Amino acid sequence: MELSKADFENIREYIYRICGLDIKEDKKYLIRQRLGTLVLEAGCKTFAEFHAKLMRENSAPMKDKVIGAITTNETSFFRDKHPFDTFKNYLLPKLGELIKARKSRAMDVKGPKVRIWCAAASTGQEPYSLAILIHEYVQVCRFFGISTSDFGLQATDISSEVLAKAIAGEYNAIEVSRGLTPDQRAKYFVKAGNSLVIQSWIRSMVDFRRANLIEPFMLFGNFDVIFCRNVLIYFDDETKRKILDKFFNALNENGFLMLGASENMYTLTNKFQPIRVGDTNLYQKKSPPPSTTPPIQLKFKP
Ligand SMILES: C[S@@+](CC[C@H](N)C(=O)[O-])C[C@H]1O[C@@H](n2cnc3c(N)ncnc32)[C@H](O)[C@@H]1O
Repeated sequence: MELSKADFENIREYIYRICGLDIKEDKKYLIRQRLGTLVLEAGCKTFAEFHAKLMRENSAPMKDKVIGAITTNETSFFRDKHPFDTFKNYLLPKLGELIKARKSRAMDVKGPKVRIWCAAASTGQEPYSLAILIHEYVQVCRFFGISTSDFGLQATDISSEVLAKAIAGEYNAIEVSRGLTPDQRAKYFVKAGNSLVIQSWIRSMVDFRRANLIEPFMLFGNFDVIFCRNVLIYFDDETKRKILDKFFNALNENGFLMLGASENMYTLTNKFQPIRVGDTNLYQKKSPPPSTTPPIQLKFKP
C-alpha cells in the first residue's frame, strides 16, 4: 500500500503522541509493513483514510491496535544473561539487607516490601526471570526470615496484547528454548499441549499492569530497583530525559536503575551514579547533596 510523505508524517506524529516512539524517515517501511493490515481491517483503502479515521474516532481499542502493531516486543528469558547475573549476585544481596533493615526498623516481621519494577516487560520473560532468581535467593536465605512475600515485583507494558500473553505465562517451544536451562524448564513450568506454562507460584509473584512510560506514573509508588531495558532506544532524547526524570522520582534513595545493554544516559542526565558491575552498567540514584543553607540561629534575649 502506498505511503505518501504526508501520510507518513501524519501517522508518525500520531504514534509519537500516543506512545513516544520516534520513527525516523529511514524506518518508514515499519509503518507500511506493520500498519498495512490494520488499515484494511479498519475498512480503509489508504493510509490517509486510516489516519483520518484515527483522528475522528479517537478510539481506545484502535489506539491499542496501532501500539500493538508498531511496538517491537522482542524479549527472552534471562536476555543478555549478565544483567541477571548482576541482579542475582549484586542486587539481591543488597535487597536482602534492605529487607532485614526495614523489618528491624518496622518492628514488624512483615516489614515494608522491597519493590522492583520491570517497565516495558513485553510478554513477561523478563519479570519471570527476576521472579525465578528471587525464588532461588529466598531458598538460600529463608533461615534469615526472608521470603518471596518480602518482594513486590511490578511488571508493566503499554501493549495490552503482550500483557495478556505475559499474564497467561504460556510459551511455545522456541520461546522456552531461549535462555532457560532444561532444569529451569522442568522446575518452573508445566506442560500444556505443545507449550509450557509458568508455575502458578512464580506467576503469583508478579503483578502485571498496563502503563505508558510517557504518561505520569506516580500511582505506582516507589521502587528500590527499576529494570527498563531495550525500550529507551525507540525514543528521542527529550522523551528519554523525561522518562529518566520520572524513574529518578520513582526510585527510593540509593535505588538502582538497569537499562538495556545498548542503552546509557551519559548525555541525558547526571542525576544517577553509574556503577560498573561485571559487564553491566547499573545506575544508582544519587542522594541529594547536603543542604548549603546555614542553620537558623535562634537568638534568645537574656
Ligand atoms: C523490545 S521490548 C523489551 C522487553 C524487555 N524489556 C527486554 O529487554 O527483553 C520493548 C517493549 O517496550 C514496550 N513499549 C514501547 N513503548 C512503550 C511505552 N511508551 N510505554 C511502555 N512500554 C512501551 C513495547 O510494548 C515492548 O513490549
